[in-house]
Amino acid sequence: MTGIFITLEGGDGAGKSTQAELLEAWFAMRGLEVVRTREPGGTRLGAEIRRLLLHGGDEIGEVDARAEALLYAADRAQHVAKVVRPALERGAVVVQDRYIDSSLAYQGAGRPLDVAEIRGLSEWAAEGLWPILTVLLDLDLDEAAKRRAARGGVSDRLEAEAVEFHGRVREGFLTCAAADPDRFLVLDAARPVDELHAAILARVAPLLPAP
Ligand code: TYD
Repeated sequence: MTGIFITLEGGDGAGKSTQAELLEAWFAMRGLEVVRTREPGGTRLGAEIRRLLLHGGDEIGEVDARAEALLYAADRAQHVAKVVRPALERGAVVVQDRYIDSSLAYQGAGRPLDVAEIRGLSEWAAEGLWPILTVLLDLDLDEAAKRRAARGGVSDRLEAEAVEFHGRVREGFLTCAAADPDRFLVLDAARPVDELHAAILARVAPLLPAP
């Protein structure tokens, strides 16, 4: 595979989409094909799974933790097979909001499930595809809660979880990063947008093929 696979991770409201947009524009300016995508919801099937997972409400009732993990894994399988792997095979850059680390943090650390089992499930779904770089936008819990409140609107099913859940998720991400320091770039998401972008570019630029 000749493309470059980059993922952005972090809690809700950490600023992943903003950084993904800036990164997409930077690659596009260099004449590279960029596929900006996300999980859940990067395919038509995934969009249905996303709607159920985040906004299913009374229609689906309470979701069992294992069922939730399998739905994220199903979304991932479809997305990797139909979008991510084909893009990488034709040499594109894939800039993706959330991937396997989100399952490890939310389902593995957040829910009462075994992280190693979630990893096995995700790797199976993705046929072992891992990104070359994962940017973790780490946000202090108070700041994250403030940002969620400022966003207004209705919280989705995961956003509405208790602060303890979000604490476990944050620790889950930091554990992933500590276990795989070569792949991860951990940044304090409270830093200004342009500083974060510059720090990301410093890691990304060396990934480009020589002109
Ligand atoms: P999304 O709107 O993409 O995230 P954000 O709120 O950061 O913009 O919502 C996706 C939700 O799904 C988010 O709360 C995290 C959760 N999620 C998991 O629990 N497991 C996963 O594997 C993935 C990809 C997401």
